[in-house]
Amino acid sequence: MDGADDPEWQALLAGRPESAGALAALFSPLLAPPGAADGCLVIGRLAQTLDGRIATNLGHSQWIGGPGDIRHTHRLRALCDAVVVGAGTVRADDPQLTTRHVPGPSPLRVVIDPERRLGADYALFRDGPPTLLVTACDGPAMHGAAQALRIGRDAAGQLDLPALLRALAARGLTKIFVEGGGQTVSRFLVAGCLDRLHVTVAPMILGSGRPAFDLPEVARICQGLRFSWTCHPIEPDMLFDIALGRRAA
Ligand SMILES: NC(=O)c1ccc[n+]([C@@H]2O[C@H](COP(=O)([O-])OP(=O)(O)OC[C@H]3O[C@@H](n4cnc5c(N)ncnc54)[C@H](OP(=O)(O)O)[C@@H]3O)[C@@H](O)[C@H]2O)c1
Repeated sequence: MDGADDPEWQALLAGRPESAGALAALFSPLLAPPGAADGCLVIGRLAQTLDGRIATNLGHSQWIGGPGDIRHTHRLRALCDAVVVGAGTVRADDPQLTTRHVPGPSPLRVVIDPERRLGADYALFRDGPPTLLVTACDGPAMHGAAQALRIGRDAAGQLDLPALLRALAARGLTKIFVEGGGQTVSRFLVAGCLDRLHVTVAPMILGSGRPAFDLPEVARICQGLRFSWTCHPIEPDMLFDIALGRRAA
């Protein structure tokens, strides 16, 4: 485990950003009370190549970021109540989504699988911290060891993400970490459901592969989503912290 004796991380975990040194600039926005009407503070995160890929076309993504980015991801898990991933990430990675690399509690794990296509034999449906399977289908209340949560679809046929956030807040889960993949983070962005975005850019080019962002087409540069950011070197990568404030793509 990294940072077990890191006093600045321990201070941040204890809710004392004033003693957290350089970590405070990056993480203290997550300690603030949620400002949105649904009661949640939602942060998305991706690690991408310089050419905007988060995985090869075969789904291999380990690892695009270096060890510092992996530690950063585990820290985001530790600071949040729930970690959300899409069905594609579970299918490709069979992840655990725990905080095993840093001190801090593991969040509830949330898998978005609208058609309930994933089998119940993936690691997070078998053991580890509690898991919610979010689906648009009727079906059994349990999926392996995970509880199923039925959420409706929006007018575009996508899973209704504002309704999901309200359902999580009703369970007392208000700090929400959307960890990937690209489709899932993009859908939160299109729905105007992200308060913040952390994007790590690694010094590599794949030239092919799965995109980080997949958003409705725009015709003109001025229609793109432009923002300011702060840059945080995590050698050898660069992390960009973006306050989106629920702006929709
Ligand atoms: N580099 C990174 O930071 C990073 C992070 C995580 C994962 N990954 C990699 O990324 C790849 C997976 O990413 P991905 O973009 O292909 O898939 P993904 O985002 O993990 O999952 C996409 C699927 O999730 C479901 N879904 C999520 N949100 C939804 C919504 N609002 N409405 C309806 N359906 C929703 C849909 O399932 P259905 O189509 O079944 O309905 C959709 O196809 C894997 O290769 C993984 O290794 C990379």
